[in-house]
Formats: sequence, structure tokens, C-alpha cells
Amino acid sequence: MCPDDLKIWLNHFEYHAGHPRSIPAGLEDVLKPEERRLIAGSIATFQLGEQSEGATLLPAAQRFSQCHQLGALVRIVELFIREEQRHAALLRAFMEDHGIPLKRRDFTDQVFRRLRRLAGFELYLCVLITAELIGNVYYRALAAATGCQRLKVLCRTLVADELVHVAFESQLLLALRAVRPGWARALARSMHRAFFTVTANVVWLTHRSLLRHCGYDARGFVRLCLAQYAFYLAPMERAIAPSSVS
Ligand SMILES: [Fe+2]
Ligand SMILES: [Fe+2]
Repeated sequence: MCPDDLKIWLNHFEYHAGHPRSIPAGLEDVLKPEERRLIAGSIATFQLGEQSEGATLLPAAQRFSQCHQLGALVRIVELFIREEQRHAALLRAFMEDHGIPLKRRDFTDQVFRRLRRLAGFELYLCVLITAELIGNVYYRALAAATGCQRLKVLCRTLVADELVHVAFESQLLLALRAVRPGWARALARSMHRAFFTVTANVVWLTHRSLLRHCGYDARGFVRLCLAQYAFYLAPMERAIAPSSVS
């Protein structure tokens, strides 16, 4: 990714930092007791996943940007972390208003955090984009599952931001891979896809009550997630030429 691309992304994240997302007041905000039971544990896991202080990501981005002379990257990552914290706050406000308990820890969240701690910046990006692509499918399902207008708008708002996150992360990842030899690219691709597939299956298993209610069996959910993966990470790999990230 060249410095000009990074400038475009920086402008985007700066703009969003100056105009933080909010959910319009006055939306219909009724969550039926059966809906609340269905979504409580599941939404709490995703709320936990949105929380990050950037303790691992920020130093990794700093090291990476020094190595590749990509100064704007650190600022982008700082603003990105702030946006994720905003997502966590929007979800938390909804949960508190509906008496849904917050989670302090969750098995899948811990696995994701451990993996990211072990990783350098590139691997961190792989783990992050995996969570976000699957999260987008999940938030769309959640929006469809509820009659609560506030929750529907909240889910669509999160998806709108996450789509930009995955666009940025996929462009960066593909640029990183493009300068590698063919065999290394193929290895990275197949390992990432395998990790993605396992993760989508685990997400279906751990959120299956809600996802089944939305009409997704495991196969349907994983297929939808893989379609997102292919859109962002598979076809462009052939099209993207090596750039200044090396
Ligand atoms: Fe998010
Ligand atoms: Fe995100």
C-alpha cells in the first residue's frame, strides 16, 4: 500500500473520529422477553470482542510502520481502536438499557486475544479481519432476528463501520502478500482460509441458538462467511500488483 493510499484511509478515520456514530434518539426500543433471552449471551460476547485498549495492536503497528516507513499507519490504528471502543460503548448502552449483563470474559474472546498477542502486525491483521468478516455476517443476522428498531439500526451502524475496516485491512494484507514469492502467498492464503473456516464453525457452534433462529444452519452460515472472505481476500489477490509495502 502506498503512502497516498494511507492518506486516504487516514482522512476517512480522522473524519469519523470527528463525527462519531450515534444511534438516533426516539427509535422504537422494545425488546421482547423471548428476544432478550435469545440474544443476551450472544450479544454480550460480541460486545466484549469490540473492546480493545490496543495494548498489543498499537506497539505492533508502531514496529511495523518503522520497518516500512509508513508513518500514517500508527495514527490510523489509533483512530481505528477508538472506533472499535465506540462500537463497544454503543452495544453496552443498548445492553444496559435492556438489563442484559455484560461479560468480563469469554472463551472465544480469550482465544482471539491470545492469538493476537502472539502475532506480529501481519498475523494480527489476519486474526482481526477474520473476526470482523464473521462479525458482519453475525450483525446482519442479529438485525434480521429482532423486531427492535434500535437494535436493527445499531447492527447496521456497526456493519457500516466494519465494512470499511475490512476494506482497509484487506487492502493492506493483500499489498503485504503481493510482494512475497508465489509459494509464500499460496501458503499464507491457504492457512488464513483454513483458520477462517474453523473460526466461522466455532462462531456458529457458540451462537447457534440465535443463528438457527435466523434460519442459518452451520453450512449456510459458514458458506456466507466464506463468501465474504472470498470477496475481500480471494479475487483481488490476483489483481493487486506489488506496491511499496515490503
Ligand atoms: Fe467493531
Ligand atoms: Fe472493526
